[in-house]
Amino acid sequence: MIGPAAAAIRERLDGRTPHVAIVLGSGLGQFAERLGDAVRMPYADIPGFPSPTVVGHSGELVAGTLAGRSVLVQSGRFHMYEGHPAALTALPVRVFARLGIQTLVLTNAAGGIRRGFGSGTVMLIADHINLSFRNPLFGPVIAGEERFPDMSDPYDPALRALARDVARRLRIPLAEGVYAGLLGPSYETPAEIRMLERLGADAVGMSTVLEVITARAAGIRCLGFSAITNPAAGVTLQKLHHLEVMETAYRIAGELAGLIEGVVAEL
Ligand code: HPA
Repeated sequence: MIGPAAAAIRERLDGRTPHVAIVLGSGLGQFAERLGDAVRMPYADIPGFPSPTVVGHSGELVAGTLAGRSVLVQSGRFHMYEGHPAALTALPVRVFARLGIQTLVLTNAAGGIRRGFGSGTVMLIADHINLSFRNPLFGPVIAGEERFPDMSDPYDPALRALARDVARRLRIPLAEGVYAGLLGPSYETPAEIRMLERLGADAVGMSTVLEVITARAAGIRCLGFSAITNPAAGVTLQKLHHLEVMETAYRIAGELAGLIEGVVAEL
């Protein structure tokens, strides 16, 4: 499905050649409204792309310009908790690779594990722990991908330095930490959060890690941001609810969008 999807998108791109793709997490979909000359491609028009089933995730790719650069925005992810195999979670990244995308910016909503990571914190992802117990590279090697990709710098150090720099200039407080990616869809128990804390995780969510593994196998450099939408289970007495997660993501979205635009401007 990689080839037919890439061909369908290329046709709609009409000669544009985006080098940057931006993946939007829960509640962050409004980002696509920043694009100039937007071309919207609903997933229904892209071979192999199912419709997302999660409230807060639309299902379209949007090509356009951001800070003078040609970009491709993925609004709506395929999560494994929807019943998708790991390979489908990774399909958009493989299609991006086929289209010549070289840089992938990923965003997600996440629970804050580290004390002091309250709702509204923006965390630059320094590294991740894949606790989904799945790997999108499982099976035959896909053309253009490595069998055993190095994962010692999954989130590109130069891009992270640029993000810190842009955040400083825009006076956006930017935390940095380790993201743990779990299968979901239930939120974690307090005991699981204490375990994750001991494992070295600062934030927890249900996405991103498989996309980054795929991108690294395809030689795409990655930059990731977590919008911390809630203290993780048991960190406070607050109960977790998807609608609140989305409301908080929505509130942080503008700040995060400014940060991403600032980074894209310097790519
Ligand atoms: N846990 C997992 N995923 C999440 C959370 C959380 O607390 N908040 C937003 N996405």
